Amino acid sequence: MKGIILAGGSGTRLHPSTLSVSKQLLPVYDKPMIYYPLSTLMLAGVNEILIISNPEFINSYQNLLGDGSTWGMRFEYVSQQKPRGLADAFILGEDFVENKPVSMILGDNILYGSTLVEKLQDATKIEKGAIVFAYQVKDPERFGIVEFDQNHKAISLEEKPKKPKSNYAIPGVYFYDGNVSTYAKSLKPSHRGEIEITDLNRIYLELDQLDVKVLGRGVAWLDAGTPEALLQAANFIQAVQDRQGFKISCPEEIALRMKFINRNQFKDIIKQCKNPDYKKYLEVLLHQEY
Ligand code: DAU
Repeated sequence: MKGIILAGGSGTRLHPSTLSVSKQLLPVYDKPMIYYPLSTLMLAGVNEILIISNPEFINSYQNLLGDGSTWGMRFEYVSQQKPRGLADAFILGEDFVENKPVSMILGDNILYGSTLVEKLQDATKIEKGAIVFAYQVKDPERFGIVEFDQNHKAISLEEKPKKPKSNYAIPGVYFYDGNVSTYAKSLKPSHRGEIEITDLNRIYLELDQLDVKVLGRGVAWLDAGTPEALLQAANFIQAVQDRQGFKISCPEEIALRMKFINRNQFKDIIKQCKNPDYKKYLEVLLHQEY
């Protein structure tokens, strides 16, 4: 399956830090923010990815990530002229999607947890309909929200409701069938002038083709859109990494573990690595069994 990373937007809540740098390139502890959602897609088994960002920043992503071949992947890039909404990704990416199932993740969403990978890998097998996730939050009015009936079946979706019908937010990682671009093109802008991912998901809900999988408390879902959230995310990554000695969302490691690259390609990556600590981490991995 292919994947899209949406890494545009205006990042106003992080101004002035994002006046001349794309939000999703800001560091979250020891790596650029986009490494985290990128790693999430890689762990799902996705190795062909379209990166979408603003015209003024798209080159920075190309400079950082290149064509993906170093990591055994393939990256394409498209500019979004204006932040027209999350569903715009499937219109801009129509040629990339080719009417086939596709995943999308928001460039500021950080997901971490042991049960997550299996759920994501299962979702990549989708042929018909859509799969999204639900995650309990304290502040549901900030997110897309799903309401369930007594049988845990999704019955309504709302984007940032003033009076949320549940505490289940929908994280920014989505899986769709090959109709997604067609449905996205049928959407009308909302009152805030965006074509909303929630309206796209509602199309699938009304067709009875939306599968909502609950992510339990063992999964961490963080976004990094405000100074506080960015700092919290960095602290979380540092705490877990320092305790375990494993890096969270190290694309080189995941490329090796997922067999996107072989050990020789991994050795080449190590040779090119100029950060002594990062290099040492990669060297240790090389001597572990896979
Ligand atoms: O984080 C999950 C939430 O993401 C979902 O629960 C909501 O349903 C969904 O609408 C979205 O809410 P946000 O308030 O986080 O959306 P925001 O407008 O901040 O956009 C999310 C990211 O996508 C942000 O990093 C910027 C980027 N973006 C946004 C728009 C509207 C783009 O690249 N292009 C766009 O046109």
